[in-house]
Amino acid sequence: MRVLHVSCSPRGEASESYRLLQQIISQLRQSDPDTTVIDRVIGQGVIPPIDEDYAVSQGSSKDVSQLGSMAKSEELILELETADVVVISTPMHNLTLPATLKLWIDHIVRTRRTFNISKFGKVGTLQDRPVFVAISSGGRFSGEHPQQPDFLTPYLTAILGMIGLHNVAIFSVQGTGSHVNELASIRRNTDQLVREHFASFHPDLIAVPTY
Ligand SMILES: Cc1cc2nc3c(=O)[nH]c(=O)nc-3n(C[C@H](O)[C@H](O)[C@H](O)COP(=O)(O)O)c2cc1C
Repeated sequence: MRVLHVSCSPRGEASESYRLLQQIISQLRQSDPDTTVIDRVIGQGVIPPIDEDYAVSQGSSKDVSQLGSMAKSEELILELETADVVVISTPMHNLTLPATLKLWIDHIVRTRRTFNISKFGKVGTLQDRPVFVAISSGGRFSGEHPQQPDFLTPYLTAILGMIGLHNVAIFSVQGTGSHVNELASIRRNTDQLVREHFASFHPDLIAVPTY
């Protein structure tokens, strides 16, 4: 199984979302010992904003360049297309996704490449495959009496669905700003949810991408 891991925390491997991601990867490895993980680290600003050629190509009928952002976009899309499973680890930043994750999305969500515009709306071109999202946040954004609105999970679900990725499972450690004992309990609960989810997960059930 080929797993693409997109990691977005500026804190890298010391981050809470990375810790949660490791729980998911560990379950994937248990379900298939031949699992290979491709790490796409984007949390430290390695993906530049899209350039002029890219923006122009999105509004015209043909791609005007294969350089700059277009080349980066193609590289990132190929990485996505050749993955059996995608795992995104990300913190919540200002009620939504970090700017670095948005830049990755700007590169992989490309008209006439990963989605087409039809009279029925935008239609994804990617073959569906499991996507796991590991989120970490300082406060709670779901459940009873959330402390803040959530513009992260609805956005991620919508944008991934737009390119054809509908099979999205989201896990979160919400409340990293809590007292240490409470945080330990939050982590235990989330890790348990991950284990329960994978109890019925089997790699043979994954549709192999045809790219
Ligand atoms: C720029 C910035 C904005 C943040 N905004 C939020 C927020 O809106 N809501 C929240 O619950 N936590 C917020 N946090 C806290 C992080 O989500 C929290 O520390 C999280 O555990 C970090 O995850 P990481 O260790 O994976 O990077 C913010 C942190 C930073 C650095």
